[in-house]
Amino acid sequence: MEAIDIRKKFLKFFEERGHTIVPSSSLIPDDPSVLLTTAGMQQFKKYYMGEADPYMTIHPLTAKPLGSKSAASAQKSFRTSDIDEVGDEGHLTFFEMLGNFSFGYKPGESSPKSGYFKKGAITYAFDFITKEMELSISYVTIFKGSDAVPKDEESRSVWNSLGVTDVREEGMEDVFWGPTGTSGPCGPTTEVYCKTVAGKDVEIWNIVFNEFFYPGSREELLSGSSGKKLESLKVAGVDTGMGFERLVMISQKKATIFDTDLFAPLLELLSSAVELRHKRIIVDHLRAMSFLIADGVRPSNKEAGYVLRRLMRRAFVYEHMYQIPPHVFDALVHDIVHEYGEFYPELLKHNDDIREEMKKEYDKFANTLKQGVKKLKEVKEDSITAESAFRLYESFGLPYEIIKELGGAKTASLTREAFDAEFKRHQEISRAGQEKKFGGHGLLLDTGELKAANEEELKKVTRLHTATHLLQAALRKVIGSEVHQDGSDITVERTRFDFTFPRKLTPEEIKQAENVVNEVIQKDMQMTHEEMSYEDALKSGALHFFKEKYPLRVSIYTVSDKKTGEVFSKEFCGGPHVTHTGEIGSFKIIKEEASSAGVRRIRAAVEDKK
Ligand code: SER
Repeated sequence: MEAIDIRKKFLKFFEERGHTIVPSSSLIPDDPSVLLTTAGMQQFKKYYMGEADPYMTIHPLTAKPLGSKSAASAQKSFRTSDIDEVGDEGHLTFFEMLGNFSFGYKPGESSPKSGYFKKGAITYAFDFITKEMELSISYVTIFKGSDAVPKDEESRSVWNSLGVTDVREEGMEDVFWGPTGTSGPCGPTTEVYCKTVAGKDVEIWNIVFNEFFYPGSREELLSGSSGKKLESLKVAGVDTGMGFERLVMISQKKATIFDTDLFAPLLELLSSAVELRHKRIIVDHLRAMSFLIADGVRPSNKEAGYVLRRLMRRAFVYEHMYQIPPHVFDALVHDIVHEYGEFYPELLKHNDDIREEMKKEYDKFANTLKQGVKKLKEVKEDSITAESAFRLYESFGLPYEIIKELGGAKTASLTREAFDAEFKRHQEISRAGQEKKFGGHGLLLDTGELKAANEEELKKVTRLHTATHLLQAALRKVIGSEVHQDGSDITVERTRFDFTFPRKLTPEEIKQAENVVNEVIQKDMQMTHEEMSYEDALKSGALHFFKEKYPLRVSIYTVSDKKTGEVFSKEFCGGPHVTHTGEIGSFKIIKEEASSAGVRRIRAAVEDKK
């Protein structure tokens, strides 16, 4: 059976059993404490916590309530922890996870729409694997128990009743899932293992029984030293995740995921001169890149953007190393976009962005790559230390993998741990530098645009921040709507606002803009905040900073008159802001000057009301 049909079969199986099929959420999660989406349950976190109701809450991706206590999806997922392993037989960065979920099961209820727990979840998994896919289960695992959570005897007896007798007991590390991020639902799991044609047992399905909430991270939970305790969730839920590529491998009777129809045709596009490990890396990385860019990630030196940059640059290194002609990567991306485009239409929609970002990043990197390779050749030491590797990273943007790859024997003793430690050491040094700048108090807030070291400074920069929104709206009223933000920087003393405008402002225009802002301050207009989809936000006419890339759900701040409802300013923004413009006090433009060609710069301050 082709992969595409297996995905459909899974969703149909659960749809026929009362589940609402939900699209994959973006790879950029709503939860800011998580870098990228790693599991299907993330979009359902609120349902497990009882903060969203399956029958009442509008689901952001379907624009209506789920209408069932059960849902299923094929979810785009990304695990950075596996980057170094890619190239072997089984690891990927991007992968798809098939999952069925149940929220708010109450004992005694029995229809699929009313939710299910251990018996229901295990029976579905058994039926899907053995009856629907006609595969056999090698063995399963259950939770062996800990100080806080008893052994999962119920799961054992359900498996036994279905004729599965090889039931193995494991501990917290392996069969207790979650939480993701800084806190969340978690619970014991039962895993399903199947045999590959090569006779190897692989885990294909993880069935989590979300019975608990943990007020800390998984690391804290496992270390047990934080003093934080598992709390019972009011209503128990189920979260399952099946590795799609692995299921396809078992079903198509292939020895590795790379031999399935998901990957084999892509690998064949690369010449036989390319080492197999490198072929797998290229294909994994280009696939992940396409999905990340389609979801709005852009290469950068930070967070998800850095992950993307590493993937792209590593693929480019092999392209360069094997002198792969450019049309080959083009063909790979073409096939990826079209192979997945039917199910994930965002790939087709952002096809041009994928190409463009790829070209831009290549152009940026080509020079670096040349210089870096030259530098790497010059390195005299027999072994490249973590420190010298970090210098290469800092000066040439060469990621760890690339230094390792290109440095060959010179990097034999360089490890990811040592490199990461060096990275951290430098981060700490630069953070210490920042702290010194801010009086040694540390930073209370640093959004890039706004910086504050203590509560008092936070209040001041918040006032300046709202004033900056008012300034932009005022400028658009006074000198015209061709004014667009080009950058801003807010310190406790002043706001600095850069905007596009072809000429110097006249003293009258400056005074007028200042007056408009002060009028809005006097009217004590309200600042309101809402979240909405990126499309809705654009439709609402909210101003957005074109240099910034926004996630699918965005945050919008609006200044409006409480009485008349008249909107004065509406912007894409992460906050923070005052709640009423009166809090700003009074506003004064200090200076207007050129910043660069076609861009003006205004410095302005706020003062307490006299
Ligand atoms: N959340 C679990 C996992 O990621 C099951 O979906 O494995």
